[in-house]
Amino acid sequence: MALLPILQYPDPRLHKVAKSVATVTEQTRKLIRDMAETMYAASGVGLAATQVDVHERIVVIDVSDTHDNLLVFINPVLTSSSGSEESEEGCLSVPGIYENVTRAEQVTVSALDAQGKAFTLEADGLLAICIQHEMDHLQGRVFVEHLSHLKQTRIRAKLIKQRRETL
Ligand code: NI
Repeated sequence: MALLPILQYPDPRLHKVAKSVATVTEQTRKLIRDMAETMYAASGVGLAATQVDVHERIVVIDVSDTHDNLLVFINPVLTSSSGSEESEEGCLSVPGIYENVTRAEQVTVSALDAQGKAFTLEADGLLAICIQHEMDHLQGRVFVEHLSHLKQTRIRAKLIKQRRETL
């Protein structure tokens, strides 16, 4: 297994739209293992392949307290969503920034698992938010893009300044 570098906003590669996985292979599973290791090492609850510069529709999520309930979504599709709730989000690609975003409260998602087997999952709470956040990444969308343009400009300036200071 290997830790993968995580793209940092505003990297333009975060805006690429991911392609569907045609066949789930051993190579797909190796990527999933590396993504999971990378997510756990960074204390994240979700990671999209886009964030490690692989533009395929693959997401890993673990919202458990015990970090032992890895969910894998390949080619995820939201088949229904309902309700609306605002909650604070963060992102491994946008370090140190936490902002409120409004999303659907409940979602139903269909996807393939790491074995290529189709499944459907109904989710609410943190898992529902996380699924929507990670699926946004696959469309090239970072959570801060749900915020006002003024806020986005401030966040970009702050992150660029922070990075300059740590070089
Ligand atoms: Ni994210």
